[in-house]
Amino acid sequence: MESTRSKLIHLLQDREREYVSGQVLSEALNISRSAIWKHMKELEKDGYTIEAAPRKGYRIVHTPDKLSANTVKWGLETNWLGQRLHHYSSVGSTQLHAHEFAQQNAEHGTVVLADEQTRGRGRLNRSWHSRKGEGVWMSMLLRPEIEPHRAPQMTLLAATVLAEVLKTHCGMKPQIKWPNDILSNGKKLAGILTELQAEHDQIQYIVLGTGINVNHEAEHFPEEIQSIATSVRNETGQSFELTPFIQALLQTFEKRYEEYMEHGFQRIKLRWEAFAYRIGERVVVKTAKREWRALLLGIEPDGALKVCDEDGKEEILYSAEIKWGKDEDENT
Ligand code: BTN
Repeated sequence: MESTRSKLIHLLQDREREYVSGQVLSEALNISRSAIWKHMKELEKDGYTIEAAPRKGYRIVHTPDKLSANTVKWGLETNWLGQRLHHYSSVGSTQLHAHEFAQQNAEHGTVVLADEQTRGRGRLNRSWHSRKGEGVWMSMLLRPEIEPHRAPQMTLLAATVLAEVLKTHCGMKPQIKWPNDILSNGKKLAGILTELQAEHDQIQYIVLGTGINVNHEAEHFPEEIQSIATSVRNETGQSFELTPFIQALLQTFEKRYEEYMEHGFQRIKLRWEAFAYRIGERVVVKTAKREWRALLLGIEPDGALKVCDEDGKEEILYSAEIKWGKDEDENT
C-alpha cells in the first residue's frame, strides 16, 4: 500500500509548482485538512519549502538537495523501482537492511539508501569505503522470475545501467571490467554486489547493491586505495547532486530490467560490450583454484567470461577475477 505521504507527494508532483487546494488533497487522501497541514510540516523538516496560500492551497517551491525518501521520490519517474524507499543517514550496510526487508516480504523494487555505511561490503568479502554524503550507497530488492543460474546476468545488467547513466548524466566515458567494476581511466569508480537467495531452483529474491563514488576528492579515500579508486568529481572536475543522479539510475534500471525480462540478455550483452574494458588484451585470470595468463575474448550469450590461455585453450568462466599491471599483478 502506498503511504499517505507518498500519495501526497504524487499529488503535488502531478501539478508541479501549481497550488493544490487543501480540500482536493484532503478528499484524495481521505484525511482531514489539519492532517494535511501536519504532513506539510514533516516535508519542511526534510528540507522542502512549501508555500501555503489562503484559498489556493499548497505548492512546493523548493525541493532540497538533502537525500531523503521524499526527495528521491519527488519527481521519480518509475512504476515500481524505488516507489518503496527506505533512507538512513547511517547504517552498517544497506545490503543487510535490504535482506531484512526481503525476509519480511517487502515488495519487488524496494530500495534502501544510506548517506553513510560503516561496514559497507564489497565482493569477495572485501570492505567497501562509503563516506558520508559523497556517494550512492544503495541496495535494491528484486524478485525476478528467472532461473537462479541467470542471476549473474543481473550484475551485468546493473553494470550497463551504471555506465549508461555515468555517460548520459555526468558526461563520462566509463568502462566495465567483467563482471561488475565500473572504471574511469583505469581506476575504480563504482562496484556492484549481487546477493541471491534461492530455494528449489527458484529465486526467492536478489539484493543488488551499488556503490558509486560521486563527490569524493582524491584525499577522501583511505590511503591504501587512493591509487586505485576514483570518483565522478575526480574525473570530471564537477560535483553532482545525488538526488537527480539516483533518480536517473532508478529510471534507467527499471527500463533496462523490463527490456531484459521481455527480450532476454541479448540486448544487455550488446550494451555491456559497448562499455567493455580490455577485451582482446592479455590479463591474469584468478579463480579460487588457480591463476594464469590469458587473453580476454569477451562474453558468452549468457554473460559468462570467455578467455584463451597461452596454449590457445579456450575457457568459459562464471566466477573469476581479472588482473593486470606491470607484471599483471596489480589489481583495480
Ligand atoms: C564491489 O565492487 O566489490 C562491490 C561493491 C558494492 C558496494 C555497495 S554500496 C551499497 C551496498 N551495500 C554494501 O554494503 N555494499 C553494496
